Amino acid sequence: MGKVVLFDHPLIKHKLSIIRNKDTDTKTFRENVNEIGSLVTYEVTRDLKTRIIEVETPVAKTTAEILAKDVVIVPILRAGLGMVDGIHDVIPTAKIGHIGLYRDEKTLEPQEYYLKFPKEIVEATVLVVDPMLATGGSAVAAINKVKKSGAKDIRFVALVGCPEGIAALQKAHPDVDIYLAALDEKLNEVGYIVPGLGDCGDRLFGTK
Ligand code: PRP
Ligand code: URA
Repeated sequence: MGKVVLFDHPLIKHKLSIIRNKDTDTKTFRENVNEIGSLVTYEVTRDLKTRIIEVETPVAKTTAEILAKDVVIVPILRAGLGMVDGIHDVIPTAKIGHIGLYRDEKTLEPQEYYLKFPKEIVEATVLVVDPMLATGGSAVAAINKVKKSGAKDIRFVALVGCPEGIAALQKAHPDVDIYLAALDEKLNEVGYIVPGLGDCGDRLFGTK
């Protein structure tokens, strides 16, 4: 079974408190989602392999280490887009794939409307990112597509999750490690995380 990593860092907790607050404006919300995206990337990538290269500093020849494999970031649209710049800031060589999914309001089943992955995805470490892991349906569907593209090394990164989402994702994809900035109590009757932060896509893009 893949591991579930819960971040325990004061800066992440501080920023989470800002995005949970219903009075936070769109600009501040988006900035903080991106900043948390940057901070969690350090932990998500901690065990990535490096390879040795030769470099010449202004003083001498030496060896140095670079990432051994490509990294591909796959945001689940829309809300996953809110974390991409923050992650890309710290892994500027990463390629970005996109998958568009929305939850049907009644069934909560994910509906796919867009898909475009870079060819590097097959051999890369793939970070599937979405701020919210609620029923887990979107994460499961996105990772199904990522696996179908040939990728094997996949991590799922979210800001807020709940036990129901973790259980669904672990059942469908036991090989995928899950990284969360917060693990909340439960889902409510309309599929929102409690206490959560509301509709992340709407709060990021000002659509409500
Ligand atoms: C939200 C969120 C996740 C999904 C999580 O997206 O960004 O993708 O719900 O819920 P699940 O775990 O139950 O699948 P939404 O469908 O609202 O689309 P949006 O990002 O375009 O707003
Ligand atoms: N999607 C969101 O944006 N928020 C939730 O609480 C659940 C799903």
